[in-house]
Amino acid sequence: MKDRVAGKFIVLDGPDGCGKSTQARLLRDWIGQQGVEVCAYRDPGTTVVGEKIREILLDPVHDPMADNVEVLLYMAARAQLWKEKIGPDLAAGHCVVMDRWISSTCAYQGYAGGFGIEKVIQLGTDCLERVWPDVTIILDVDRDTAMTRMDRQLDRMEQKSNDYQEKVRQGFMKLTEMFPEKLVLLDANQNVEKVHKQIIETVSAGK
Ligand code: TMP
Repeated sequence: MKDRVAGKFIVLDGPDGCGKSTQARLLRDWIGQQGVEVCAYRDPGTTVVGEKIREILLDPVHDPMADNVEVLLYMAARAQLWKEKIGPDLAAGHCVVMDRWISSTCAYQGYAGGFGIEKVIQLGTDCLERVWPDVTIILDVDRDTAMTRMDRQLDRMEQKSNDYQEKVRQGFMKLTEMFPEKLVLLDANQNVEKVHKQIIETVSAGK
């Protein structure tokens, strides 16, 4: 098992309310229990620059923000995160578990916002040292279930219309169809333990 996860770059992603932050924590703990050095980060954020960019992106005061501006800011935060954290960690042989990555920009700005999935990937190719993780696990959730998990003040992205959020979900599904060798879609409408089990199975299979 150790060999399957050491040095791996694993991303959990999906629509708001899919439970990925909880699952990223559980996965990090499980990987640690396998005796593997593991780091877990969130995108956007983690670095000082990234957290400042996150504040700009999520503050409802900054509405409306153009979709292409969102793309550039998310990508900038990500580039900094790679330079400061992910790149050095992977080079040291650690496993990195990410809460979101470029798959989010593809689904949110690329598909729901209309910027274009291909254009997001092209931009990522131009400004990130690595676009695709070893595996991206998409936690698919229906809107009603997601809403029950978001019982708090919503940020600028979460406040976008139901229509936009539905397109985000479709965007993640479309991305999984486009790159079946890079992304795995899991049903995250189930309880925390069942979803965790599916994630462990996916990671253990070395996907
Ligand atoms: P989080 O709350 O899951 O950390 O994500 C912050 C919000 O930013 C969430 O609503 C999803 C959104 N987002 C994008 O729109 N594009 C992106 O590239 C990323 C990483 C997040």
